[in-house]
Amino acid sequence: MTPSAETKDLNISQLKNIFNWVSSVQDLNQLLELILHTGSRIMHAQASSLLLLDQKTRKLYFKVTTGIQKDKVKKFEVNMGQGIVGHVAQTGEPLLIADVSKDSRWYRDISDEIGFKTRSILCVPMKVKGNVIGAIEFINKAGKESFQTSDLELLNVFSDVAALAIANAKKFQIAERENKGLKQALGFSHQIIGESRDIRDVVADALKVADSKASTLILGESGTGKELLARLIHQASSRRERYMVTLNCAAVPETLLEDELFGHEKGSFTGASERKTGKLELADGSTLFLDEIAEMSPAMQAKVLRVLQDGIFYRVGGNTPISVDIRIIAATNQNIAEMIKNGTFREDLYYRLNVVELYMPPLRDRKQDILLIARHFVDLFQKEKGHFQINISPAALDIMTRYDWPGNVRELRNAIERAVVMGNGREILPEDLPMLTPRNSLSTIVYGTSLQEAMDHFKKEFIRVNLRHAGGNRTKAAAAMGIQRTYLSRLISRYAIKE
Ligand SMILES: Nc1ncnc2c1ncn2[C@@H]1O[C@H](COP(=O)(O)OP(=O)(O)OP(=O)(O)O)[C@@H](O)[C@H]1O
Ligand SMILES: [Mg+2]
Repeated sequence: MTPSAETKDLNISQLKNIFNWVSSVQDLNQLLELILHTGSRIMHAQASSLLLLDQKTRKLYFKVTTGIQKDKVKKFEVNMGQGIVGHVAQTGEPLLIADVSKDSRWYRDISDEIGFKTRSILCVPMKVKGNVIGAIEFINKAGKESFQTSDLELLNVFSDVAALAIANAKKFQIAERENKGLKQALGFSHQIIGESRDIRDVVADALKVADSKASTLILGESGTGKELLARLIHQASSRRERYMVTLNCAAVPETLLEDELFGHEKGSFTGASERKTGKLELADGSTLFLDEIAEMSPAMQAKVLRVLQDGIFYRVGGNTPISVDIRIIAATNQNIAEMIKNGTFREDLYYRLNVVELYMPPLRDRKQDILLIARHFVDLFQKEKGHFQINISPAALDIMTRYDWPGNVRELRNAIERAVVMGNGREILPEDLPMLTPRNSLSTIVYGTSLQEAMDHFKKEFIRVNLRHAGGNRTKAAAAMGIQRTYLSRLISRYAIKE
């Protein structure tokens, strides 16, 4: 067999492998690595790199690298037009350079800094629908010979496969997002239920400002529908094509909040093995919903304020300014005026956030909505549980209307769900609403149990009732019982209480 025939056979079987991988490997990074390693082997290259174009900074960064100095290369970024690879990305044309020392376009700094002697380079652009998204380069053919035009053809195949894999991965991510957005959009028009003046006013105001870029602050007690209103604003805005990005400031530990919001550069701290895109960047062209904004520490408040003032930010460990087009909606159930007074919330940030301020009124102040919302949830849950037409008895409605609903719509929703499950399947009766008619706990005390058992039983019931009254909000329930929230959480798991 001649050497060339041998190489050819290898190529075909390796190429077949690649096509198998493209359909079976789920992880894009892994796939690109396989493609690059195989390419280097076939082409007898000493090193290779796949660079991607960061659409925002217009710089190329090293996504995958092979060769002895592969880890050192990764910290570099290449400007468009800079060096061979920057040139290829800019022109969209491949380059084959047999001796880089004779080519003025060569940018020797990277090679010098990492201590790698570059002789020849073969570099092709990666394109999706004619647009350059990056480039692949192979460096130093092993042995004496340089890269050939036939190598170039082969490399073109590799770059097409890689570009396709990347495009597919992107499409998949976008499709996933769009799906979610679509689901929300389909449900949204009927979601904010209510005929009261207050609700109609707040919805009208929300729709009025939806299409502006004005920062909007939504206030209101827990469970009144603040998140729902934020979604409505987003869906009614011209940004609806993009997925609304949410950051719950209370759910993310303080130490991770900055990372979540700004993202980080590769290598910016121990363990930062990949570049991470923060929510600010993800929300570019869309809406960023900052939920529970009052939970943000003063240090984070200062950082967020800076972004809102300057319109730019930096990834953690990065020094390239990134500018984004974002509509901010923030929400809190805290008394923010009080927090400003006692210095726990920055006044200047507050003014940035509440260009428009919307207030979701508590359910007890719009009692005429109770029947409508209850009916809405009965319809929803009866379908889910396979029932047909469940009525709400006048007596049950009477109790619901007189109740104060400290957990607001969320509590009403939970109550209806439970009533649909526990009830007779035809009509909701007062006894299906147990949080409104607490059983006399003395009746459950049975002779023959130990004091410990009786106390445990009482504690369990006591916690259940308080949680229900707080609409499932542990902080509120703990406050009502005069215990720490952490202690309540421990009791909940000790007694296996389902919320
Ligand atoms: N007007 C309404 N019509 C129908 N459903 C509602 C309405 N208001 C709230 N809900 C429902 O009640 C639940 C709580 O709403 P949401 O999460 O928006 O409240 P929130 O104000 O953000 O509460 P929290 O402050 O506790 O985060 C959700 O299931 C939501 O769909
Ligand atoms: Mg909320």
